[in-house]
Amino acid sequence: MPFGVYVHVPFCTVRCDYCDFATWTDRAHLVQRYVDASVVDVRRRVASGELRPASSVFFGGGTPSLLTPEQLSSILREIPVEPGVEITVECNPDSVDDAKLGGYAAGGVNRLSFGVQSMRPHVLRALGRTHDRDNVALAVAAARRCGFRRLNLDLIYGTPGESLDDWRATLHDALALQPDHVSAYALTVEPGTPLGRMVADGKRPAPDDDDQADKYAIADDMLGRAGFSWYEISNWARPGEECRHNQLYWTGGEYVAIGCAGHGHTGARRWWNVRTPERYVERVLAGRPPEAGGENIDERVRAEEEISLGLRTRAGVALPEAAEPVAIPLSEAGLLEREEGRWRLTLRGRLLASEVTVRLMAGVGPAGTR
Ligand SMILES: C[S@@+](CC[C@H](N)C(=O)[O-])C[C@H]1O[C@@H](n2cnc3c(N)ncnc32)[C@H](O)[C@@H]1O
Ligand code: SF4
Repeated sequence: MPFGVYVHVPFCTVRCDYCDFATWTDRAHLVQRYVDASVVDVRRRVASGELRPASSVFFGGGTPSLLTPEQLSSILREIPVEPGVEITVECNPDSVDDAKLGGYAAGGVNRLSFGVQSMRPHVLRALGRTHDRDNVALAVAAARRCGFRRLNLDLIYGTPGESLDDWRATLHDALALQPDHVSAYALTVEPGTPLGRMVADGKRPAPDDDDQADKYAIADDMLGRAGFSWYEISNWARPGEECRHNQLYWTGGEYVAIGCAGHGHTGARRWWNVRTPERYVERVLAGRPPEAGGENIDERVRAEEEISLGLRTRAGVALPEAAEPVAIPLSEAGLLEREEGRWRLTLRGRLLASEVTVRLMAGVGPAGTR
């Protein structure tokens, strides 16, 4: 059974206008204590048997690439891993160099995920990013020199001011760097972020749904022609290069979370840690568990999630016969297709995924999938 470890690194140098992830820009003084607490947390979970050998480890953020190789390796060293483990680190393109990436590789990291977002200067500016296009090429070149074969590039589409040609140029330039994985997300306006406030005050336009749908279709087409297939609504990979860690999230797999604001799923329980780095450090170093809450997942919730998460993936879902009166009209409308007894979203269906999911859930009722 695959098993994952997610390590949250809640530090950034600058907060991007659109981002509402759990991350802080004024806590550099806390980093070493946070790393020490993470080490203690891992050790305790290993000792209790909750953290078994991992098939994937994912350092996410925030900006994990703000950690020195020594800091990152000190956590990694404590995590028992299976042979062939996938170990990913999320990196901002302007916070890496050969020394840092070489140190990560020496510590066992074998996959990097760069937050590229766009390759067009005015779009990067509109997103409040600190890097430019050249940083991305330099970061990828450094990664290659350090022997990294598996690279993901995160992209964002639909930023107001981004034309269709800007988006095509971003995809083109990103593909020229030969990644084996691309994540493309529609820009989401999160309330409480600087972007959310500017949109609410009418100072910035909101992203346009039709524009984002067009850009999704362009991404699927250009990535498909470059040898990538979608395997989750926002994720494309070359064959065999799917991110094993993220697949745990979509398939109901088990994982533990180290660090503040992380979510874990073990047994029939889902749980989450305290949100701030201060509270995490305080709890762990005082010998107390960092969990802030948890819930048991009953059979009905599990079945619903199997549909809502499964539908986001290319593998799709098996539905009970009782759901066919709902699924068949959706497939006649070109939103779903059936292959070997499983239903999956078409390209048009992926653009309307939430709507299709709601309708299917209503059709399936409490019986769930089979
Ligand atoms: C939490 S970030 C961490 C990566 C890294 N800190 C970076 O930004 O370069 C992971 C990814 O989420 C995506 N993301 C974050 N906020 C988003 C938003 N409001 N809309 C769309 N995508 C978003 C970005 O593509 C980003 O690279
Ligand atoms: S998008 Fe990445 S770099 Fe920007 S604030 Fe969020 S976590 Fe930090």
